[in-house]
Amino acid sequence: MKQQLENIRVQALAALDAAETPAALEELRVSLLGKKGELTAVLKQMGKLSPEERPIMGQVANAVRADIEAKLEERKAIINAAVLEQKLAAEAIDVTIPGDEVTMGHEHPMNQVLQTIKDLFVGMGYTIVDGPEVELSDYNFTKLNTEEGHPARDRSDTFYFTDDDSVLLRTQTSSMQIRVMENAKPPICILAPGRVYRKDEADATHSPMFHQIEGLVVAENITMGNLKSALVTVMKQIYGQDAVMRFRPHHFPFTEPSCEMDMQCHKCHGTGEVDGQVCSTCHGEGWIELLGAGMVHPKVLSGCGIDPEKYSGFAFGMGLERMAMGRLKITDLRLIFDNDVRFLNQF
Ligand code: DAH
Repeated sequence: MKQQLENIRVQALAALDAAETPAALEELRVSLLGKKGELTAVLKQMGKLSPEERPIMGQVANAVRADIEAKLEERKAIINAAVLEQKLAAEAIDVTIPGDEVTMGHEHPMNQVLQTIKDLFVGMGYTIVDGPEVELSDYNFTKLNTEEGHPARDRSDTFYFTDDDSVLLRTQTSSMQIRVMENAKPPICILAPGRVYRKDEADATHSPMFHQIEGLVVAENITMGNLKSALVTVMKQIYGQDAVMRFRPHHFPFTEPSCEMDMQCHKCHGTGEVDGQVCSTCHGEGWIELLGAGMVHPKVLSGCGIDPEKYSGFAFGMGLERMAMGRLKITDLRLIFDNDVRFLNQF
């Protein structure tokens, strides 16, 4: 029996040394030490031995088992290390390969200009308000003193939703003047930026959807002087302290008196000519139109429940795209809406 055990030991150690994979090792463990294993088979015969021989054989058998177990552990450690090594080699990452570039987006140029304008007015105490783009004709026209039959209400200019022309896509942010005045008491000091819609074919200076920024100030003793100082202050912040402005009489149904504000052309300095050619920036005008404005018409005030004997106000409305084009020197309005990143990345 001793010889049997010795044989098991020698063969087992040799077999374990030859095992290369965790699976082969496990197979050997079962066949050597398992319930149906060789060692167990030998130990089952111990009962046949004499009482003197039994402890001696027991010792030998334990020593063989201990040797096999030690060898198993040793091989397991070696094989696991080799497996890990292989895995690491196979999954190696070359950290020196340059990564894919992640391009960061940034604020749209038109929003940059909008934000600048909002900041300037907020700094002067204005509150930003928002309102519906689907609007009642009452707010877009009637309450702004633009009667039935006025050319501005023409079906060829306005997107109407109903046959009776009572609901439309607002054509101007001036509708917000009425919405604010109907709901707030003076003093009122608001700025209302937003989208407006007109039936225009898209070209270099027109788009069926564009943005306006409406301003409204109503309080006691508001004068045209307040209007001029507010607008000149803001435009000089935007276009530079040496920008030259002028106010020119105009007509709007909802203001009286009404005016337009122009800025002297920065390219030709008001001469309308550059190197003997017609200035391409102002088309020879010498001036660039910035916005419409005026003193809120007394009829508009009283229509909103504000006493025109006690209160007065001024209002203005500017085109955001026009402001952005002027400030960022963009020549075609459509570029602002195309959202071609090659264009946007320039700002
Ligand atoms: N709503 C006018 C337009 O779209 C612009 C305008 C003119 C707004 C005079 C005003 C204003 O508030 O007082 O042409």
